[in-house]
Amino acid sequence: MSQAMPTATEETPRAIAGEVMPEDSQAEAGLRPRRLSEYVGQPKITSNLKIFLSAAQARREALDHVLFFGPPGLGKTTLANIIAQEMNAPLKSVGAPAIERGGDLAAVLTNLQEGEVLFIDEIHRLRPQIEEVLYPAMEDYQLDLMIGQGTAARSIKLDLPKFTLVGATTRAGLITAPLRGRFGIIFHLDFYAQRDLEVIVHRSAEILGVEIEAGGAREIARRARGTPRIANRLLRRVRDYAEVLSNGRITNAVAGRALDEMEVDRFGLDEVDRKLLSAIIEKFDGGPVGIGTISASISEERESIEEIIEPYLIQIGFLNRTPRGRVVTRAACEHLGLPVPQAQQSLLAS
Ligand SMILES: Nc1ncnc2c1ncn2[C@@H]1O[C@H](COP(=O)(O)OP(=O)(O)OP(=O)(O)O)[C@@H](O)[C@H]1O
Ligand SMILES: [Mg+2]
Repeated sequence: MSQAMPTATEETPRAIAGEVMPEDSQAEAGLRPRRLSEYVGQPKITSNLKIFLSAAQARREALDHVLFFGPPGLGKTTLANIIAQEMNAPLKSVGAPAIERGGDLAAVLTNLQEGEVLFIDEIHRLRPQIEEVLYPAMEDYQLDLMIGQGTAARSIKLDLPKFTLVGATTRAGLITAPLRGRFGIIFHLDFYAQRDLEVIVHRSAEILGVEIEAGGAREIARRARGTPRIANRLLRRVRDYAEVLSNGRITNAVAGRALDEMEVDRFGLDEVDRKLLSAIIEKFDGGPVGIGTISASISEERESIEEIIEPYLIQIGFLNRTPRGRVVTRAACEHLGLPVPQAQQSLLAS
C-alpha cells in the first residue's frame, strides 16, 4: 500500500515571505516593541499617532477608531498593542474570520470595558451582516438588536462602553466604503527604509543577546524586503551560522555568507520572487500577463501573489501592474541576468 508523502511545503515551510510562520509567533512576542517610543520607523504614523493619543488622553476620551493597512509583517498588530498600552487600556484581539454571526460580535462588544481597544485583524474578511452590526457600534457606541420574530419582532438599542476599534488589513482594496468611512484615523504602512531596519536588527540582537557588528546588521537589513518580521527572521537564521562560523558574532561577512546560502539575494528576493519574475520573462515575454495565468504557471495562490510577493517587487521597481496585466521591468531582467524579451524592449524602454 502506498503511503501519502508529506508535500515539500508541509515539511519545510517556505522561508522568506512577510507572512507569519509558526516559528515567528513565539519569537515575535519577545521582540515586539511595547511603547510608541520603541517603535522604529514609519515616522508619519508615529508622529501623528502621538498627537492623537495625547489629545484623547487629555480629553479623557477613547481614541478615535484606527485602521491600519499594509503588507504582512510591517507592524500592524504591534501598533494595535501599542495603542492599548499607551492609552493604558485593555486590549481584546479577534480575527475577523472567527466572527461568524452577528451574535458573536454582539457578545464581544457588550463585554468591552470603557476605553478598551478592540483589535479586529483581517478586517476585510468580515461578513456584510456583521459589518452592519459594527456600524452603529462605531458611530454611536450603540448596538441594534432584533428580538423576537415575525410581527412580534422589535429592535432594541443597547448602549456600549466607549471603545476604540483598531482594524488591520493587508488588503485595503477589499474594505467596503461604509466601513472605511467610519474610521477616524487611517494609516498606510510602507516598507521600511534600510536604516530603520538596521536599527530594528540591532534592537532585536540586543534582546536576543546576539553580538552583531554594524556591517552585519546592514547586510541583514538590506535583504529584509523592507519588512521587520523578515529582518528578525533573517537575524535568527544568521545567528545560527554565526555560532558555527565565528563564535556567535555576526559580522558583515558571516551575514553575507549565511544569506547567500539561504538564497536570499542582494535585493532580498527569494526563490518564489525569482520564480515569478522569470516565469513572466521566459514564458510570457515579459508581460503583460494576467494574475490568474501567473498564479497557475508558478503554482502559487493568487492571494499570496497579490498580498505578499508583488507589493515588494513593485516597490523596488521590478514589476508593474498595468490594466492589461503584470509587466516586468528592465531592472528585473538585469538583476536576474535574463535577456530583456524582444517584444518588451520598446515597452520597457518607455
Ligand atoms: N516598527 C517596528 N519596530 C521594531 N520591530 C517591529 C516594528 N514593526 C514590526 N516589528 C517586528 O515585526 C514583527 C511583525 O510585526 P506585526 O506582527 O505587527 O506585523 P503585522 O503587520 O501585524 O503582520 P500581519 O499582516 O502578518 O498580521 C513584530 O513581532 C515585531 O517584532
Ligand atoms: Mg498582524
